[in-house]
Amino acid sequence: MAKESAISKAFAATFVILTVSVIAGIVVMSIFYSTQIAKMNPTPRPPPQSTTTSLPPVIRLPKNLIPQRYNVLLQPHLYTRITEVVNVTSPNQTMVFTGNSTVSFHCVLGTRAIYLNSMDLAVSDPVVMNKDTNERIGVSSVENHKDESNFLEIQLNDALAAGGNYSLFLAFKGEIRTLHGMFVSTYVEGSPAYEGDESTERFLTATHLEPIDARKVFPCFDEPDMKAVFDVTIIHRIGTTAQGNADIRESNNFDDDWKITFFHPTPKMSTYLFAFVVSEFASTNSPTDGRVKIKTYARPDATAAGHTQYAANITEKILKFYESRYGIDYEQKKLTQIAMPDLAAEAMENWGLVTYQEGSLLYEEGVSSLLHKEVIASLIAHELAHQWFGNLVTMKWWNEVWLNEGFATYESFFAVDHVEPTFQLKEAHIMSNLHAAFEQDALASSHPLSPPRDDVQMIYEIYDMFDSITYCKGAAVLRMLADIVTERVFTKGIKMYLSDFSYKNTDQNDLWECIQKAEYEDGGHTNVATVMNTWTKQIGYPVITINTTNGEVYQKHFLFNQSLESGLWWNVPIRVMSNTPKSSLIWLVSSDPVRKDEFISKNGEWILANVNCAGYYRVNYNPENWERLLTQMESNPHKIPLMNRGQLVDDAFNLARAKLVEVTLALNSTRFLRNEREFIPWESTVRNLEYFVLMFDRSEVYGPMQAYLCEQVKGLYNFVRNDTDNSQVPTDHSLQHSQITAIEVACSNGLPECLEMATKMFANWMNTNSTNKIHPNLRSVIYCQAVAAGGREEWDFAWNKFQNSSDTSEKDQLRQALSCTKKIWLLNRYLGYTLDPEKIRLMDVASTINYIAKNVAGQALAWNFIRAHWEYVSQGDAVMLIEGVTRRFSTQFELDELKRFATDYNLLGRVVQQAIEQTQVNIQWVSENKDSILEWFESETAL
Ligand SMILES: *[C@@H]1O[C@H](CO)[C@@H](O)[C@H](O)[C@H]1NC(C)=O
Ligand SMILES: *[C@@H]1O[C@H](CO)[C@@H](O)[C@H](O)[C@H]1NC(C)=O
Ligand SMILES: *[C@@H]1O[C@H](CO)[C@@H](O)[C@H](O)[C@H]1NC(C)=O
Ligand SMILES: *[C@@H]1O[C@H](CO)[C@@H](O)[C@H](O)[C@H]1NC(C)=O
Ligand SMILES: *[C@@H]1O[C@H](CO)[C@@H](O)[C@H](O)[C@H]1NC(C)=O
Ligand SMILES: [Zn+2]
Repeated sequence: MAKESAISKAFAATFVILTVSVIAGIVVMSIFYSTQIAKMNPTPRPPPQSTTTSLPPVIRLPKNLIPQRYNVLLQPHLYTRITEVVNVTSPNQTMVFTGNSTVSFHCVLGTRAIYLNSMDLAVSDPVVMNKDTNERIGVSSVENHKDESNFLEIQLNDALAAGGNYSLFLAFKGEIRTLHGMFVSTYVEGSPAYEGDESTERFLTATHLEPIDARKVFPCFDEPDMKAVFDVTIIHRIGTTAQGNADIRESNNFDDDWKITFFHPTPKMSTYLFAFVVSEFASTNSPTDGRVKIKTYARPDATAAGHTQYAANITEKILKFYESRYGIDYEQKKLTQIAMPDLAAEAMENWGLVTYQEGSLLYEEGVSSLLHKEVIASLIAHELAHQWFGNLVTMKWWNEVWLNEGFATYESFFAVDHVEPTFQLKEAHIMSNLHAAFEQDALASSHPLSPPRDDVQMIYEIYDMFDSITYCKGAAVLRMLADIVTERVFTKGIKMYLSDFSYKNTDQNDLWECIQKAEYEDGGHTNVATVMNTWTKQIGYPVITINTTNGEVYQKHFLFNQSLESGLWWNVPIRVMSNTPKSSLIWLVSSDPVRKDEFISKNGEWILANVNCAGYYRVNYNPENWERLLTQMESNPHKIPLMNRGQLVDDAFNLARAKLVEVTLALNSTRFLRNEREFIPWESTVRNLEYFVLMFDRSEVYGPMQAYLCEQVKGLYNFVRNDTDNSQVPTDHSLQHSQITAIEVACSNGLPECLEMATKMFANWMNTNSTNKIHPNLRSVIYCQAVAAGGREEWDFAWNKFQNSSDTSEKDQLRQALSCTKKIWLLNRYLGYTLDPEKIRLMDVASTINYIAKNVAGQALAWNFIRAHWEYVSQGDAVMLIEGVTRRFSTQFELDELKRFATDYNLLGRVVQQAIEQTQVNIQWVSENKDSILEWFESETAL
């Protein structure tokens, strides 16, 4: 599955909404499951008994029966259109599906019971056959366990014998649901003829099964290491097409209402990769040499308008890139991608049938931001990497799902760079990935990349694995390993891994062994498992502290709360350089301080450790070396590698947060930005300063802070000014990101030429009132800044456009821009609109109120508003609402109000507790740091 691959703030508008909803979905699920767990706890595992071989299984399947092949027939009864709603003879929609399946399996340990998984299915007509003798074996009972195991337990009259081959037939019936298992998705085709016209509404059926929802579609051995071949038949309504993992073998009319489509057998694969879609979608072919047919499906309207074209253009290139990188051809003859109106994850790598949320696959020429291509390319690259990492070679169990997700994330860096070299995205991707991992992994509540198998059993434990640690830390430690053994050796090792374990399952030791073999063959001698286990089996990461006066260096666990001592240590590879580009690799392999010559500063030169941020750790230095590094960044930044320029800022701010350095050091680290044009250091600074803005934009710190930022951004703003003033964008993608950051920072801190530009550009659109000449990249930021600088006229115009636009991304940008006004009465009126679903849809209420709360002028209004209308507004995403509206809280008064609110509404969830805790942290942080920060900004701007 795909998680966020956030690269910039540019597409934050659309992109963040998507990822937040995905994550929110998962969070809600795990909250749901943890509350259900008390009720559904399976009976505790009985204590081991001396000689008995077959205790009843508890939650994992017994491995006595090994599935080989499924013959699955599925028939979703759903209609894709309800042709005449007003006509009584027209059909009503139905959410039923029926089916039957035969699973053939091999018995490795004699047993009288078959255990497999089945959930929310009504199963019937079991038939068990001995395939070696063709004799039928009587079934004495069938029981579907009501606990989390979802076992379907079939007791037999005669035992199955070790070495024998058997089959089990079952008929079943289930319900088409929302988002998980077999689900329904809806969309509107064409424009409705009149208000309330439902005739254009369309339906489709699809599946989303990762991690453990295959059991809701047909009874199966639903564990990733129970791989089998799937022989699939779909019976679907006339007028629809069915897509499956494999190519269509044959498709005929079944009767007057139904078609029957037979698929070729799939490769041997895990159940969670099973997929099919029945829809009226239309497809676009990718240009291809013929070996693999690549098609991209979407709503017929979107396909006709060419919105699938970008995805279709790049998919084959990405596929070929991986084929030559791994020396293994893509396994199937076809690859289908589908843009889904509804999908529980941002994308899902089903073998041969990859699903995406629409917004993450479709590109509208002239409407989508150019930067949106980055999201699409990254996601396709992620999902296609899974066709090898995950689909061909799969982790044994969910505790090691990082072997799927870490690799898919890591490999996508290279594939995107290959297919869109001009985007120059690799470094920015690597940095945002690293920061996402660092953030979560600095909490004591983090988890190891590879936790013990027994810690990941329950449904919510499995869902909890799909987080930043698995995706981002996974990719970061792989990158670190590649840096240690060299990319060449690493690639050789992963080729071995993929070919040795094709169609099989692995744990991380299998990976270490392959890379070890490649390392030895190359004459290297790093012990891969010894090094890597310290990174994958423990939580967190270290901060390395270097004293460049005497060369002393030591490590300790980096935690935001430094009072929690852990005593953990890692095998840390440290690439270190000085004033020359040459770097050397030093190992730190214990928690004891050591002295190394390489860390001693010679002739007063600076020392830089963790060159190119290849290591998964932070670095702290003695104050003298910090000083030298920051001076270098101000005088000639290019001596310091680009990624390190961003990382020095990020380390300084985070070390300050953990109270390991003074907050003024963090502020000093932003001085060099005056001459910086690259996006990475700017992104790092803006992200880290966001907290300062929230804490101080209602205080006397804000004036000097704005004056400082305005000075800092002038250089960058002028650098892109020519383009900006003509509503053009630089060709280089990294500069396109810089341009957006420049406008955002300049306008929001009051740089006059920026405000003038934004106002003028928006006024042009208002005056001509026809074509919008603002470049798609710049719309989000210009709309917001123009509404902020403007009054009622601008607001009403934007509101009008919002109401009349049918384009999702345009609507989202406008809805956000409307929250940027500084006029209290407009903000109040806008808040009022969120109570009217005709104006703001319920699903958008929470994010709209959060946008308003993000605006300093709207903070108090939003807080009062949600308390006054909690019953209604909390129907949306209450979690997101509480997080958003309380983000700025930093006074005792606000803390008391928050506590009272929690009591009044009896809000007990983790989110409210976290909001209270965060407010307390904020109060303390402000009281400890405010004076020195104010003094710093004042002295900086007095110069
Ligand atoms: C309902 O649909 C049937 C078949 O399409 C048609 O013959 C009939 O006239 C329709 N009745 C109404 C009231 O529209
Ligand atoms: C559809 O549902 C309505 C209301 O439940 C019912 O009156 C009608 O007879 C149903 N139509 C068909 C064709 O089943
Ligand atoms: C499975 O279902 C299909 C469609 O309903 C039916 O034609 C077929 O006979 C069923 N198979 C068995 C073995 O009952
Ligand atoms: C897709 O490729 C074609 C042919 O190279 C090109 O003309 C077209 O502009 C591309 N479309 C997109 C959206 O990139
Ligand atoms: C670094 O080492 C020097 C020489 O031993 C010592 O005087 C200084 O206090 C050390 N600095 C820090 C920050 O530990
Ligand atoms: Zn994934």
